[in-house]
Amino acid sequence: MKKIGVSILGFGTIGTSVYKILEEQKDFIAKTYGYEMVIRNILVKDINKKRNVSDTVQIVDDVSYIVNDADTYIVVECVGGHAADETYDNVLKLIKAKKNIVFSSKKCLATYRKEIISAASENDVQIRYDATVGGGVPIFHLLDNLYGTDRIHKVYGIANASTNYILSLMKEADLDYETAKNQAVNEGLAENDPHEDVDGLDAMYKLIILLRFGLGLEGDFEKIEPCAFSVQDNHSVNKQIIYAEMDDFVKVYVGIANVEGTLLETINGRANIMCMESQYGGTKTVAGIGAGGLETASVIIDDCLDILLHKRKVKSIQKDVNVVNIEADKLSFCKMN
Ligand SMILES: NC(=O)c1ccc[n+]([C@@H]2O[C@H](COP(=O)([O-])OP(=O)(O)OC[C@H]3O[C@@H](n4cnc5c(N)ncnc54)[C@H](OP(=O)(O)O)[C@@H]3O)[C@@H](O)[C@H]2O)c1
Repeated sequence: MKKIGVSILGFGTIGTSVYKILEEQKDFIAKTYGYEMVIRNILVKDINKKRNVSDTVQIVDDVSYIVNDADTYIVVECVGGHAADETYDNVLKLIKAKKNIVFSSKKCLATYRKEIISAASENDVQIRYDATVGGGVPIFHLLDNLYGTDRIHKVYGIANASTNYILSLMKEADLDYETAKNQAVNEGLAENDPHEDVDGLDAMYKLIILLRFGLGLEGDFEKIEPCAFSVQDNHSVNKQIIYAEMDDFVKVYVGIANVEGTLLETINGRANIMCMESQYGGTKTVAGIGAGGLETASVIIDDCLDILLHKRKVKSIQKDVNVVNIEADKLSFCKMN
């Protein structure tokens, strides 16, 4: 039985759920895959807060404990987006110390993707990121296993569960925007700053990660302009969408759009959906719960196992692209027939 040391950065909604699943599924993982997963350290901000963990786990507030822990093989990153710069610094130190990283923070990964990919390659460590887009929807497990013969020319979907949840509460429970937003925050679904969700920044980071890590495209993604949420719009038929159409340019849209009569209209609450259209395969969709501790953590644990079972590198850049922002009325969504 091979022992695998796992350390966790952040112990909030996602970090505690990763801990819970790893503890609960320890025997199953050992029996099925032959790995004894041992939680080593947990990095937090407030070291004095009471944490419900085993005595064998070290709670730390300095990443150097994990950097210097020879027995940590995988680090699961679950720190909030507000600390993206600090998280990047920590992740870089960990990569240089040959730790494999599973990401959940999209802002850190989207913003510093080039530096992170290059550090991972130089240090021969693996990174995974399935939880960064769509929470519990394993979009990259699908994309990483496509070999590129069937070119994807369009991807779009609903990728921000908290905005979707807010819109659903406004529509179905007839709540006003502020009340619905506060409910999403109280249920641990929103970013530390919920404006990152409703104003499309979180969705924009997800689109960037999807383009680079899912499709192997790199370009002037800093030009993507998310369209902010407006309380006045008719939200009974609206969803927050990410959209990219690959042409000579990559035509992108991030923001609220009318999805009446499309498959996207049926995706409510915490659910997310990603749709892909390709040359031969037509339209494929993957849908599921896009936020929540256990749902997201289950994808993170799969990523940890994937590191152990399938050594793989980040997709190489298949094309350098330029992006063009398009208007919501130029989007076209799939018909599943
Ligand atoms: N919540 C979801 O449904 C969901 C779904 C998919 C992806 N994500 C992503 O997962 C990440 C974590 O989300 P969450 O909901 O678990 O956040 P959270 O509940 O706010 O927890 C954040 C954790 O990070 C720790 N932390 C904050 N700043 C830190 C710093 N500078 N150094 C070290 N630790 C720090 C906090 O420590 P203290 O405990 O000491 O305060 C806390 O334990 C976010 O980036 C989010 O975008 C979340």
